[in-house]
This record gives sequence, structure tokens and C-alpha cells, in this order.
Amino acid sequence: MRKLIVAANWKMNKTPEEAGIFVEEIKSGIADANADVYVFPPFLALQTVSDVLKDTDVKVGAQNMYIEDKGAYTGEISADMLQSIGINSVIIGHSERRQIFKESDEMVHAKLIKALSKGMTPILCCGEDLETRENNKFMDFINSQIKSAFADVSESDACKVIIAYEPVWAIGTGKVATGEQAEQVCASIRSTIEEMYSKETADNIHILYGGSCNVGNAKELFSMPDIDGGLIGGAGLKPEFVDIVHCKEK
Ligand code: PGA
Repeated sequence: MRKLIVAANWKMNKTPEEAGIFVEEIKSGIADANADVYVFPPFLALQTVSDVLKDTDVKVGAQNMYIEDKGAYTGEISADMLQSIGINSVIIGHSERRQIFKESDEMVHAKLIKALSKGMTPILCCGEDLETRENNKFMDFINSQIKSAFADVSESDACKVIIAYEPVWAIGTGKVATGEQAEQVCASIRSTIEEMYSKETADNIHILYGGSCNVGNAKELFSMPDIDGGLIGGAGLKPEFVDIVHCKEK
């Protein structure tokens, strides 16, 4: 039985001070959940948010990292640096990284390998843009993103990855995928994992949905057989996140 996972990706929002105030406000609500809860603040707020949540099971992760341990990579942050402050989860290949910062499938793959080699929990994002959906090429597109990211990843490492299916056309647009649309893709991702590894790994791996997920639609989405929770953007910046974390309990 896969446990529900609910993660908030704050993107480039909240100063350390704002982050500290907000996380104090939602702390008790997210700490007692019947779910694994993750919060992904901007780098500068990681320490503050970790301090506030230190006596809870809520995990604090980074939104990105680089593939090298150190050196002349201006503006980048390594896995070692994150781990030195106790950060052991990281979002990899978010569509904003892929589109705005031109991260290729090869870079996403290298980051996934790096995170796994450091024993971190990666949340690997995939998802199609509107054109690919409208051309009806999205299944092949997403499965090729998955195959490329997981190339050379061992079976024992594969089940440590959390996959997030986030259709680009649904991110921050208020246009949410229907439960059926999201389920169709998540089920197909699970079949790809079964093809690459085994039924056991496919049954164990967590697959989340992300894209305009909110308190009004989370329960329906998270009740789909192949959707194990959500990666929440906009609604993860508001107290509503607490209700999303608890949505299946009512
Ligand atoms: P959204 O973002 O919930 O604001 O659509 C989701 C994400 O990008 O992870």
C-alpha cells in the first residue's frame, strides 16, 4: 500500500522571514497528517523552515541542485551543500527548469543520478506542454522523459524516486487536468516503470500529480488508483495547504 505524499513547491516566493512565519502557522496542521509531507522553500529559506519543522516528520527539500560537488559553477548549489544543512530531498526537472532554464533530458538524468548517489530523495518531474497534448503525442513524450531520466538507474534506486506528473498547461493556469486525464498518464508512467524494472517496483513507486491542484480538486485526484498524492504550487503558499494534506481523511 503506497502512502499518500503531499508536497508544496514554493518556487521563488517568500523571504526567510515570510517563510518562517508561514510555516509556524501551518506547522501543527501539516505535522499530524496521515501522509508524508514535504515543503520545498527557496534555498535562502531552507534553514529557517528546517528549524521550525525540526521536531516534526515533515521533510524540507530543495527545488533544484547541480550535478557537481563543488567548483567553478557560478550560481549553483551542490548536493553536499544541501546535505550539510540536513536537506535530503530535491525536486529535479521541474518544467520551469526545463523551459526557462533550458534544462535538457540529459541534465535531468545527470541530476537524478547525482541525487540518488548521495542518498537523497528526488522528486522527478515530467509533463507535456499544450501543443504536445493537443497533437495527442503526450503519452510517448512523457514516457520518453521517464525512460531518459531513469536510464542506468538500478532497480533498488528506482523505487526511491518520487515521480511527479505535471502537465505544463495546468501549472499555475487554474486549468487542472481531470482525474481521468491525470490517471491515464500516471497509469502509463507506472507501466513504463514496470517495463523497465518489475511489477514490484511499479507497484511501490510513488507517482504524484501537479498542476493547479487545490483543496477543491485534490481529493478527487488523490483518489485515483495510480495517483499517490500531489506536488502543489500556488495552493502550497497558503493555509489551504493544510486542508490539501488532510483531504482524504474526511
Ligand atoms: P501550481 O504549480 O500548483 O501552481 O499549478 C504546480 C507546480 O509547478 O509544481
